[in-house]
Amino acid sequence: MCRTALHNFLRDLPKCEHHVHLEGCLTPELVFDLAKRNGVQLPDPAQQPEFQSPATLHQHYEQFQSLDHFLSYYFLSMSVLQHRADFEDLAWSYFCQAYEDGVRHAEVFFDPQEHMHRGVAYETVLDGFGQGCRRAERELGMSTKLILCYVRHLPLDDAMQLFVLGLKRGDFETTPDGPAKIAGIGCSSSEIGPPKDLFREIYVMARDKGIARTAHAGEEGDPSYISAALDAYHVQRIDHGTSLADDAMLMERVAREEILLTVCPATNIKLRYMDRIDQLPIREFMNAGIRFSINSDDPAYFGGFILHNYCAVQEAFDLSAKEWIEIAKNSVQGSWVGDERKAELLRMVDEHGLRFSEA
Ligand code: HPA
Ligand code: ZN
Repeated sequence: MCRTALHNFLRDLPKCEHHVHLEGCLTPELVFDLAKRNGVQLPDPAQQPEFQSPATLHQHYEQFQSLDHFLSYYFLSMSVLQHRADFEDLAWSYFCQAYEDGVRHAEVFFDPQEHMHRGVAYETVLDGFGQGCRRAERELGMSTKLILCYVRHLPLDDAMQLFVLGLKRGDFETTPDGPAKIAGIGCSSSEIGPPKDLFREIYVMARDKGIARTAHAGEEGDPSYISAALDAYHVQRIDHGTSLADDAMLMERVAREEILLTVCPATNIKLRYMDRIDQLPIREFMNAGIRFSINSDDPAYFGGFILHNYCAVQEAFDLSAKEWIEIAKNSVQGSWVGDERKAELLRMVDEHGLRFSEA
C-alpha cells in the first residue's frame, strides 16, 4: 500500500489493464503447487538453491539482471502448466487479484508458441485461458480479452503456422466484441537481437484481416524499435515504449496517431532499466498528449499487481485526481472493446470521480 493521500481513490478507480502476461501471474506458490499436482520436476535445489521453496524463489526474483535473465525463469516456470484446468486456474487467480485492485476490463497476453514448443496442445492453452476469462465475466462482471503473443526467440515458421491455424479456426476477432476468442495479436520476449520487423508478414496479414495489433517495443531497445513496430507492424499500441521519450519527433507521431502506450513501471525497476520510478517519462508523455495506461506486466515476478504500479507512479509523481481520471479515461478509449462497453467503463470512471469530489 502506498503512503499517498490518494491511495483509496486509486484502489477504487475503475481500471483497464492492457499489459499483463497470464504466464507472468504464475507465482512461486503456484509453481510449486502445480509442479506437485502434475508431477513436474523443478530444478534440483542442490544445483539451483532458489528452487528450495516459494520463499527462496521470491527472494531470487529480487535479483534479475536483465530481460533475458527474467525470461529464463518465466519460461522455465511455465513447464508446470500441463492441463486445461491449470491454465484456467492461473487465469482465474489473476482475475480475482485484478478485480480486487479495481480492474474492470482486462486484456491479457498469452504465449501459445512456448507451450506448444514443449508439447502442450494449442487447444489446451486456449480453452483453459478462455474458460478463466468466461468465469471472470460471469462471476466478477469484468470484461476480458485474450491477446495472442508471438515470441521472438522461437522459430518464425512456428509463429506463422500458429497464426494460420488461428485464422483457419476462426479464433481472431475482427470486430470489437465479435464472437471469436482472441481479440488481437502482440509479440514479446528478447527485444535486442532478433530483427526489429521479424513478424512483418504476420502483422500485415493481420491488418488486412482487421485484427487488432500491438507489440512490445522500446522496453530494452531504443526508439528505432518503436518506429519499426509502427512502420512494419502497423500497431495500434506499443507495449512499454519507455524509450520513446528519447525521440521528440517520434513522440509527436505517437501522439498524433493516438497510439496507446502500455507502461509497466515495476518492470523498469526490476529489470534494471532505471533506478527509480521518477525516472519514467510520465510527465513528458502527459505534456506531449501521449495516451498511456499503467499495467503490471508480470506481477508474480515484479513485486505486485496493478495497484502496486499505480501507487508507485503516484508516490513518484504526485498526480492529481483529475490527472488520474484522465489516465483512466485514456485507457478506456485505448481498449479493444465495442462502444457500448466503452461507454459503460467511462461512466464508471466519471461516477468514481464524482464520488471522490463530493467526499
Ligand atoms: N518483456 C518482454 N517479453 C515478456 C515480458 C516482458 O516484460 N514478459 C513476458 N514476456
Ligand atoms: Zn510484457
